[in-house]
Amino acid sequence: MNADQQKVIQYLSEAHAHEQSLTRVLQSQIAMTPRGSYRTILETHLDETRRHADRVERRLRTLGQGGNAITAVVGVVQSVVGQGVAIAKTPLDLVRGSGGEEKVLKNAKDACASEALEIATYTAIERLAEQVGDDETAKLAASIRADEERMLERVLKEIPKLTTAVVRADIRGNSSYDVTTTGAADAVREAGNIAKQTTRKAVSTAKRTSRQARKVPGVAQAEGQIKGAVASEGDLPIARYDELTADEITSKLTALSQIDLAKVDSYERKNQNRSTITGRITSLRGNEPWAGYDELTAADVIAALDAADDDRVQEVRNYERAHKNRVGVMKATDRELASA
Ligand SMILES: [Fe+2]
Repeated sequence: MNADQQKVIQYLSEAHAHEQSLTRVLQSQIAMTPRGSYRTILETHLDETRRHADRVERRLRTLGQGGNAITAVVGVVQSVVGQGVAIAKTPLDLVRGSGGEEKVLKNAKDACASEALEIATYTAIERLAEQVGDDETAKLAASIRADEERMLERVLKEIPKLTTAVVRADIRGNSSYDVTTTGAADAVREAGNIAKQTTRKAVSTAKRTSRQARKVPGVAQAEGQIKGAVASEGDLPIARYDELTADEITSKLTALSQIDLAKVDSYERKNQNRSTITGRITSLRGNEPWAGYDELTAADVIAALDAADDDRVQEVRNYERAHKNRVGVMKATDRELASA
C-alpha cells in the first residue's frame, strides 16, 4: 500500500471511530431527552450516524482495511466516549432533582460542536482524497459532509427553543421537564408493553428490548429509579423488604445489580427513608465496568476478561469485589493479572 492510500485510510478510520462513539453518545442523550422536536432530531441523527459508520466502514473494507484500522484510533474513541459516559450519568440526577432543561440544552450545544468537528473531518477527507485521485472516497466524504451540515443546522435551530425552556424552568421556576417522558422511560414502557403480549416470541422480544435499552449507560439506573418509585414491596429484589431491619437490608445490597439498587433506593426514599440504607446504596452505585455487566453470568464475565486489557481487568476486580464478589470472577481476574 502506498503512502497516499495509508493517509486516506487513517482519516477514514478516525471518522469511523468518531461516528461509532457518537452513536453511543446519542443513545444516552435520547435516554434523557423528553419527547418533542429535539428528541425526534436526535433519533434521526442516531440513524444517520449509524449509516455513516456503515458507509465509512464499507469504504475501508474496499480499501483493504477491515477490522484493523477501525480499532486503531483509540484516542479519538476514548475522548468522545468519555463525553458519552459523562452524559450518561445524567438521567439519575434528573430523577433526583431539577435542571433537566439545562442539561438538554448543554447536550444540544455539545452536539453542535461534535457536528462541526465531523464537518471539518469530512472536508479534510474530501480534499485529501481528491488530491490523491481517490474519487470514490471524495464522493463519499462530500455526501456525508452534506448530511452533517443539514444536521448542524437543524440542531442550531432548536437552541432558542431549548433556551426558552431553561428560562421558564430555572428563572421562572416553571419546570416542564418530566423524566417519565424521556427516552429512558419510553424504553422501559416499550419493553413493558411488548411483554403484555402473550406469545412466547413477544416475551423474548420484550426481554431483548429491555436488555438492549439497558446497554445504554444510565438507562438501567433510570429504569430502576422509575420502577422503584411506583413499586410495591412484592416487586423489590429483596424478599419481605418491609419486615427487615436496616442492617438486614444493607447486608443484602451488594448482590444487587445497578438497576435493582436504583429500584430499592427509590422505594426506600419514598417510604421509610432510612439513611443507613440510602447511604450504603449511594456507595454501591457507580459505573459498571461496562454497560450490561450486572446482567452477565460469572461465565460471561470470565469469557470477556480474555479480551480485556489490564486496566479493564482491574476495574472488573474492584467492582466485583464491592458487589457480587463471585469466587470464579475474582479468581479469573487474579489469573489474568498474574499472566500480564
Ligand atoms: Fe455523521
